[in-house]
Amino acid sequence: MNRWKTTRMGRILSVMTVIVLLLSAVSCAGKETVPETSEEQETNNGKVIVVYFSHTGNTEKLAEYIAERTSADSYRIEAKDPYTEEDTRYDADTRAYREQHDSDCRPEIAGKLPDLNGYDVIFLGYPIWHGEAPKIVYTFLDNVDVSGKRIIPFCTSASSPVGMSAKNLESLKPEADWDEGIRLEIESTAEDIEAWLNTLGLAD
Ligand SMILES: Cc1cc2nc3c(=O)[nH]c(=O)nc-3n(C[C@H](O)[C@H](O)[C@H](O)COP(=O)(O)O)c2cc1C
Repeated sequence: MNRWKTTRMGRILSVMTVIVLLLSAVSCAGKETVPETSEEQETNNGKVIVVYFSHTGNTEKLAEYIAERTSADSYRIEAKDPYTEEDTRYDADTRAYREQHDSDCRPEIAGKLPDLNGYDVIFLGYPIWHGEAPKIVYTFLDNVDVSGKRIIPFCTSASSPVGMSAKNLESLKPEADWDEGIRLEIESTAEDIEAWLNTLGLAD
């Protein structure tokens, strides 16, 4: 190989090296803005959980808005022995009425309870049943560790206010950090919920 050829080859190699270095620099710079793993992303979004009981879907709809707007996980409390229409007739002498008036009643929950480790904030949603949170919400609280976590109770109802319902839940777990309970209008839109979340400093 003569000298000219050697010099030309050297230049080509140098240019190629520079191109490779530039390409790898560009790709590294891109990576810095993306969370390292999807696991890390889940952890960041996983600080809030929306736990709710809903029999006819009103509370569930609002729970979904909250979960969407806070990038939260959610958990629906389901009864092992599901409530029928007859059970929940708005009347005395129904299963719901008897349960609500029995201070020791703790209806069983179907399936596994969520692992609350790693969550800092728990939205706790329920419908008002005979002036109070359904007893199955008490069952939930009896069986989870919520020490030091912020709990934000919210309810829906035909007309009753939140009343003592949230305070009575709080008395089961005074070791948590409870917000005042709030009654949300059944007709609340996603935007209404977002406005409320903004007052809590929790909207995304
Ligand atoms: C068994 C039962 C008891 C209820 N008690 C009350 C009540 O005391 N006050 C009230 O305003 N609404 C009462 N309601 C109406 C519900 O609170 C209301 O429809 C709520 O939005 C239902 O939520 P859900 O669709 O998430 O189950 C009762 C409903 C049921 C089924």
